Amino acid sequence: MSENEAGLPGVDSRTPNAARIYNYFLGGKDNFAADRAAAETVLSMAPEVRVAAMENREFLVRAVEYLAGDAGIRQFVDIGAGIPAERPVHEVAQLIDRDAKVAYVDNDPIVLTHSRALLGRRLGTAVVAGDVREPEAILAAPDLAGLIDLDRPVAVILIAVLHFVPGSDDPAGLVHRLLDRLPSGSHVVITHLSDGGVPDDPRIARTRALYNGGLHFRPRKEIEAFFDGLDLVAPGLVGVGQWRSEPAGGTSWWLGGVARKP
Ligand SMILES: C[S@@+](CC[C@H](N)C(=O)[O-])C[C@H]1O[C@@H](n2cnc3c(N)ncnc32)[C@H](O)[C@@H]1O
Repeated sequence: MSENEAGLPGVDSRTPNAARIYNYFLGGKDNFAADRAAAETVLSMAPEVRVAAMENREFLVRAVEYLAGDAGIRQFVDIGAGIPAERPVHEVAQLIDRDAKVAYVDNDPIVLTHSRALLGRRLGTAVVAGDVREPEAILAAPDLAGLIDLDRPVAVILIAVLHFVPGSDDPAGLVHRLLDRLPSGSHVVITHLSDGGVPDDPRIARTRALYNGGLHFRPRKEIEAFFDGLDLVAPGLVGVGQWRSEPAGGTSWWLGGVARKP
């Protein structure tokens, strides 16, 4: 992205932005100098983050292949979808069934602008402005309602987004409010930054500071609670690189799992 695009209304190029930092980790071009500087600071402390981000995306692809294949899901709501990356959800799902539908939801105007530009005309997709902290509003959004039938099973995708939600907003409660509105057979896919059982790792505090404190590494137990009352698909909640992956990846930064609403 060229720096003069900073003149776009609503786009602040000087403050590092979560979606653009992640885009940089993935080797994308949709980022500014401030994002690259923040990303490089993270990488200088923890070079494995780049691989971890890629493993997180590969997990997403395998999860969607499982859902569209084995689980027979044809509708996906990808919340905190981010700047479109390689192999987005609709491409993976529509290889299995060309009629699969995907609503991409994000609360960041930059992400929405990119997504509309890149996905605007893709059949079976919609780009929806929404905040994961307002699940009922997301599911009621007209753009989503025009595409997704909430009376049929839906997979809700929450990849690398719940760690932006503070405990005071009850992230586990948000997951359950989303699924409450959906029928049996619906699924949820979650990945989340974990503190790896080392909450006082100084790299966690320094990384959080780069995100102005808005990034929450959680202990495994709290991430497990997001799946309460649901049937976890084997192998359960594991490092994202270990989920149905051959050979298994090694990152311990992200835990991921897929679960079905009974
Ligand atoms: C690290 S990126 C992950 C993108 C994508 N899910 C992936 O894994 O490739 C996190 C995304 O979550 C979005 N996000 C953060 N807080 C959010 C919120 N409260 N509601 C909706 N989206 C949010 C950000 O704008 C960003 O696009």
